[in-house]
Amino acid sequence: MCGIVGYVGPRRIVPVVLEGLRRLEYRGYDSAGIVYLQDGRLVKYRAAGKLSNLEAMVDEAIVAPSHIGLGHTRWATHGAPTTENAHPHSDCSGNLVVVHNGIIENYHSLREELLAKGHRFSSETDTEVLAHLIEEYLSGDDLVAAVRKALTRVEGSYALGVLWTGRPDTLIAVRNHSPLVLGVDDESGSFLASDIPALLPFTKQVIFLEDLELAVLTASSRTFYSLKTGVEIFRVVKTIEWNAAMAEKGGYRHFMLKEIFEQPQAIINTVSGRIDLETGVVELPEIHLSAEDLREIDRIFLVACGTSWHAALVAKYWIEHWVGIPVEVDIASEFRYRKLLINERVLTVAISQSGETADTLAGIRLAKKLGSKIITICNVVGSTMTREADGTVYTHAGPEIGVASTKAFTAQLAALFLFTLYLGEQKKAIGVEKRKELGQALIGIAAIIETELPRLQEEIKALVDSYYDCRDFLFIGRGLNFPIALEGALKLKEISYIHAEGYAAGELKHGPIALIDKEMPVLALVPRDAVYQKSISNVEEIKARQGRLILLGTQGDSHLQTITNDVLYLPQVHEEMNPILYTIPAQLLAYEIAVRRGCDVDQPRNLAKSVTVE
Ligand code: AGP
Repeated sequence: MCGIVGYVGPRRIVPVVLEGLRRLEYRGYDSAGIVYLQDGRLVKYRAAGKLSNLEAMVDEAIVAPSHIGLGHTRWATHGAPTTENAHPHSDCSGNLVVVHNGIIENYHSLREELLAKGHRFSSETDTEVLAHLIEEYLSGDDLVAAVRKALTRVEGSYALGVLWTGRPDTLIAVRNHSPLVLGVDDESGSFLASDIPALLPFTKQVIFLEDLELAVLTASSRTFYSLKTGVEIFRVVKTIEWNAAMAEKGGYRHFMLKEIFEQPQAIINTVSGRIDLETGVVELPEIHLSAEDLREIDRIFLVACGTSWHAALVAKYWIEHWVGIPVEVDIASEFRYRKLLINERVLTVAISQSGETADTLAGIRLAKKLGSKIITICNVVGSTMTREADGTVYTHAGPEIGVASTKAFTAQLAALFLFTLYLGEQKKAIGVEKRKELGQALIGIAAIIETELPRLQEEIKALVDSYYDCRDFLFIGRGLNFPIALEGALKLKEISYIHAEGYAAGELKHGPIALIDKEMPVLALVPRDAVYQKSISNVEEIKARQGRLILLGTQGDSHLQTITNDVLYLPQVHEEMNPILYTIPAQLLAYEIAVRRGCDVDQPRNLAKSVTVE
């Protein structure tokens, strides 16, 4: 996915666009570009690679102040990450430019048609087709009509910014299945951006465009239209509680480390105000499901990708144990292509930090068609999933900039545990006392993590020299901790590029144990829980084969030190809270190893923060 940004107003365009792109670089960083209008003509700079390459080109000293323009940071989907394929893309005249996030699925046939009409292309991208298509429909000065006509020909997803010399005071913003948010500048001016952090240095007043809506932006006005009908529509300005600092690193070396340490607050912000510890009553006002709706539910599908799928796996244990409703967990890209036995008695829960993951989005649309009620567990207000679901349980983790998800994950677990308590109350499956006990455990885990984080980071730093140059890594866990083994493996592989696999501990002897030798490090989660003895047996099997063990266990369990020297102790907490607590050392281990290996922790190679393409 890519990041787009635009501005028209009294501010100078170059600093605004470059600052916005800096805050969107986590969305993709294969190339970047900027365009602005100066003395009636478009001035464009584009550079392959990181944004810093573009910044080096744009020498403000030689730029007379311009006050309208667009910017783009790219995660390549069609065409290699080269300068020629970098956005903005122009039409033949060079008087119209577009920046785009999404995929034009029928771009090939459109390109052929336009070539036959004499258009000349300079890139391999799907996006360039949009510039020529708008040019094709441009007659007179009706830019809006030309954009609307062009987009009726387009199949696919887009968040689009358009600038034309024929309307030197106007930007056009359009969205369909890709995120796009508008900003209202206090000093009079209008912004467009793929995500909120790009706006935060300038304004907290935002407007969320819906799919198939078009906005006409000038320095002093914002007008909205239905893309299909052309009828004017109205959108309200919302105030974002995030400030620019929250989206900054806050003194930490990387966003990821900052976000690991923000987890206690993220959990508190997600839980607070939603559970009354006196009565055990859980309130989830945005869920928008009536007691009747919930009484009808006899099955739950949890759908997600990546780390969010790991959260779903933990939630399965919780919901089935405490609520007694069967839960199916699907990776979204599998869910949408298998035969789904879904009807109106099924509740589908989409879990997504971004709320824009294409496969998860497609999954809920399919489930909705089959009659399922939809709720989403999401971290981004106004994201597409939250507007298409029947209800939302927001994780109030704040902006998560590091590509590797950390605070959003533990906030998802907190939200899913709350959801479990809520369902248990609605289904009369969990009594008041038990809800109070579990609610207390959830509230309490944040303070425990806050206390343990500094010590764990120091102890893990001391381990890193022994493990940072490993070629492979296994993570094992049982029950509630099996998904955390998967999550620890994903964290390590996605930021350190070490091949890592998570396994159910009991599964080791069914094949993977063949991998064990004195070279193979294994991180085992062995809290004193209901399956402790079984987990210890698995650990002994590994030790017997000279495997290198790191054990995460319960403070006071001295037996663990008879097995290995590398033991990380964690406090005894309510067994249901182990998945949240044991995630922390797994995240820190991945982070410290990646740093020791000199990896780009916040922007790992080949990845993007939100995968809005299929
Ligand atoms: C997590 O560290 C990864 N970056 C990735 O697996 C991510 O969890 C996945 O792409 C799902 O994203 P979402 O939660 O925004 O839907």
